[in-house]
Amino acid sequence: MKKLNRKYLLLDRLMDYGDSNFYPFHMPGHKRQKNISLLKDFPNPYQIDITEIEGFDNLHYPTGILKESMVQAAEIYGADKSYYLINGSSCGVLSAVCATANLGGKIIMSRNCHKSAYYGALLKQLETVYVFPQIIDFLGINGGILANDVEKLLEENPNTQAVLVVSPTYEGIVSDIESIAQAVHRRNIPLIVDEAHGAHFAFSEIFPKSALDCGADIVIQSLHKTLPSFTQTAILHVKRKYVDEEKLERYLQIFQSSSPSYVMMAGIEKCIDEMNNFGHEYLKKFFYRLDHLREHLKGLENLWLLDTSIVGKWGVYDIDLSKIVVFGRSTLLSGVELSEILRKKYFLEMEMCGINYIIAITTFLDTEEGLHRLETALIKIDKKLTKQRKAEVKEKNCLENISDSFTNYKPIIKKKLADAMDTSYIQLPINDCTGRVSSEFIYIYPPGIPIVTPGEQMTKEIIEQILLYKKRKFSIEGMADKEAQYLRVCQEE
Ligand SMILES: Cc1ncc(COP(=O)(O)O)c(C=O)c1O
Repeated sequence: MKKLNRKYLLLDRLMDYGDSNFYPFHMPGHKRQKNISLLKDFPNPYQIDITEIEGFDNLHYPTGILKESMVQAAEIYGADKSYYLINGSSCGVLSAVCATANLGGKIIMSRNCHKSAYYGALLKQLETVYVFPQIIDFLGINGGILANDVEKLLEENPNTQAVLVVSPTYEGIVSDIESIAQAVHRRNIPLIVDEAHGAHFAFSEIFPKSALDCGADIVIQSLHKTLPSFTQTAILHVKRKYVDEEKLERYLQIFQSSSPSYVMMAGIEKCIDEMNNFGHEYLKKFFYRLDHLREHLKGLENLWLLDTSIVGKWGVYDIDLSKIVVFGRSTLLSGVELSEILRKKYFLEMEMCGINYIIAITTFLDTEEGLHRLETALIKIDKKLTKQRKAEVKEKNCLENISDSFTNYKPIIKKKLADAMDTSYIQLPINDCTGRVSSEFIYIYPPGIPIVTPGEQMTKEIIEQILLYKKRKFSIEGMADKEAQYLRVCQEE
């Protein structure tokens, strides 16, 4: 084997980054904090990194300490059963979809679902019926899912086997899960809620109520997104009444690694224990700091901060105020530009940006200094915009009038996901694809919500939206052609 005298490409980069002045407004929720006891107390990962040896139980057939640890977790959350996930919420969503619908069955899912939900539908060859979130028109983002819309689809599709919705959304928008659960349970089928972005909800009433307390049957939460837990750690909770537990466990075994990391599982246990004991206090103090931040940002003249004013409209039942969602709409700044200024000038890294906005994920582990840096940066950018606006607004009044919702075009479904993905395809320049049926997914990551799924007909509007994302240098994923110039479409019969 050839010995290369080289630096560590990844490790050195990570270490340098950790020592840099960059501040993370993205996941993981522990925010790379080195000095607080909650994280410092955790042992060196090598020291506790084992495999399923005698006395340490087995995540796939738990009968000992792991079983006990998960039973305690379920008690804390008020679930009938909770499962530690070491392959992220992705494997929880996949398992939930696969366990609740039979092969070739039917699922109603919100169109703003994460790609993992679509992959579940693909594997089980499901017919997917979409419930569309409301669109907050003046912002161009998704609002909530209306229970009435779910009800209507259930009436039209009496053979539906499960309903899956995302709440909260990436932007922190929470739907009325209680009413949705009632509608779903009237059909004696389960409601799955992808609560990946709301793992902190369960630990304080200051934040929206968790879907588990609103009657959902399977709830999946990414601990790593908003709590102090390692990347890839998540949890799935079940209420038994409408769920076949054995089937769910079978799929969890399929989608989780056969060598689950004890470091991650110990991290999950510690995170939950810490939140159970002190979470209420942590989140209360955090909320107070958030309140301050939001108060100080009230004077923004050009940028606009998503706030409680949208609650009660567009299906928005509640909102998670820890998501700092800032719009540059009606100014001269796009989400990409705002994100770049924050990164390059202020060394603040955002979670994601859309065409018109940025999202900063904040958690109780954010420092005063970090939040202050964000506040100062936004205020300075806003002031600069005021000067600029006076000079330039006449020429460039508004940004592209395009929505960030990913759900504003109702898909024309021509084939089931699985059929379209497995059929013969030809590859065409994306511009020539109007009227053709895609055999690929197309999505921007993050958030990983498909703009197009296999089996859907391409339209002029959808192609324009994709080209605009390309022009704006978003990373378009799902297509075999990484440059997103060519799309695989189903061969016409
Ligand atoms: C709504 C939603 N669900 C599920 C996931 C997958 O979560 P994980 O990264 O924990 O696998 C994501 C990831 O961003 C998401 O946004």
